[in-house]
Amino acid sequence: MNRICNLFGIKYPIIQGGMVWCSGWRLASAVSNAGGLGLIGAGSMHPETLCEHIRKCKAATDQPFGVNIPLMYPEINTLINMVIEEGVKIVFTSAGNPKIWTEHLHEHGILVAHVVASTKFAAKCEEAGVDAS
Ligand SMILES: Cc1cc2nc3c(=O)[nH]c(=O)nc-3n(C[C@H](O)[C@H](O)[C@H](O)COP(=O)(O)O)c2cc1C
Repeated sequence: MNRICNLFGIKYPIIQGGMVWCSGWRLASAVSNAGGLGLIGAGSMHPETLCEHIRKCKAATDQPFGVNIPLMYPEINTLINMVIEEGVKIVFTSAGNPKIWTEHLHEHGILVAHVVASTKFAAKCEEAGVDAS
């Protein structure tokens, strides 16, 4: 148990990377059922496909799971609205500026983590108000 486990309500501090084309509801729900945090990789999905994956993931696990949204996604507004409407509780943003969507997602009760590759960028994420990076 550590701060990441407490934050996301998971048993082990293991977060499965959100991966375009590779991490749909099957992988995400399997990781969450095993005590880690599974992430659906939305970057390769049309909005209706993401909706289907979220619903199937909800049916496949009662454990916390999240959705990774690369912010360079062309229909980003549609995807953000979709995760809010579907009641997703955890969003991992990536590939963009974490300042743009974090507040909006927080207003809807969603925990926000932003994927970065260095402590320098993690400090920027902290300034942007994310819950983890
Ligand atoms: C095939 C593949 C697809 C990936 N797609 C995404 C993605 O859609 N969004 C994202 O934030 N990171 C993506 N990543 C990066 C991973 O989520 C992860 O941050 C990266 O692999 C570093 O973690 P690792 O050192 O454990 O591999 C991808 C990685 C791989 C290998």
